[in-house]
Amino acid sequence: MLISNFIKEIDDDAFLLYQKISQGKMLRAKLVSKIAGDSEDSKKLSAVIEMIHTASLLHDDVIDESKTRRGVHSINALYGDKSAIMLGDILYSKGFLELLYFDKEIAKFISDAVCELSVGEMMDVNLSNEINLDKVKYFQMIYKKTSVLIEATAKSAAYLAKKDVISYGLYGKNLGLAFQVIDDVLDVTMSDEQLGKPSLADFKEGKTTLPYIYLFESLNDQDAQRLKSLYKKELTEDEKNWIKQKMRESGAILRAVEFAQKLGKEALKAIEVDKNDDLQRVITDMIERDF
Ligand code: IPE
Ligand code: IPE
Ligand code: MG
Ligand code: MG
Ligand code: MG
Repeated sequence: MLISNFIKEIDDDAFLLYQKISQGKMLRAKLVSKIAGDSEDSKKLSAVIEMIHTASLLHDDVIDESKTRRGVHSINALYGDKSAIMLGDILYSKGFLELLYFDKEIAKFISDAVCELSVGEMMDVNLSNEINLDKVKYFQMIYKKTSVLIEATAKSAAYLAKKDVISYGLYGKNLGLAFQVIDDVLDVTMSDEQLGKPSLADFKEGKTTLPYIYLFESLNDQDAQRLKSLYKKELTEDEKNWIKQKMRESGAILRAVEFAQKLGKEALKAIEVDKNDDLQRVITDMIERDF
């Protein structure tokens, strides 16, 4: 199934926009293939889920006013919010149509996940109105905005392969949580070049992700005041370096990475009876790296 053919059939202009989207890491497609193998059904499921995931990114970049995605200009940066939203809608709509091809359990896993993802995105927006230091709220939000679709991917692939949906769902859920925590860590630790987008964008967007929650917990009053004064601000190089330095010095980065490692272990525990080296590697590649 070639997604670009789908879009081409719909509209030339939409196809033009679609071609400006570059490829991502294909994590969700890899999950499907590592859980359900490479049958035609499995390939089709991968394509549908990646299409739906791409739709969520198109909308996410509008919500976050992000000018870059996957190392290139985002669609909203190139063609404006309205076009990005509508291209997202096309991908969602086509994706849901293609889900009809599968058993209704799979269609329901994915459709429910997109509903929750959208609620998660709304929670993210609301939590960004002021500094949030509540870890429970943070985890509820990242579970919905990111983990739920990865969980649904793992469940759908397990269903397709007649494997245990609950165990693989648990694997996907914990992998998804760890994945977002790591995404939030990388926003702090990586350079603009490494990220393919400006670093420290989350704090500027009003997001106090897990590393920031830990950092606030460990700063003295004076430094906490300084950090608060930088919230939602366009940062100078010096201010950026100060945040990055405090993040390391305070152990906030290490704590967040260790938490992600714990989640990774939970993920692997859920499927340990199956001894799947590939799925183990998905976790270790994500976590055993330099931050
Ligand atoms: C990006 O997801 C959004 C988050 C959940 C952090 P990915 O990092 O999987 O995006 P691509 O598909 O590889 O670009
Ligand atoms: C993205 O979260 C989650 C979804 C797309 C649903 P982020 O806003 O943190 O993702 P990036 O950092 O833009 O990829
Ligand atoms: Mg974003
Ligand atoms: Mg976002
Ligand atoms: Mg992010």
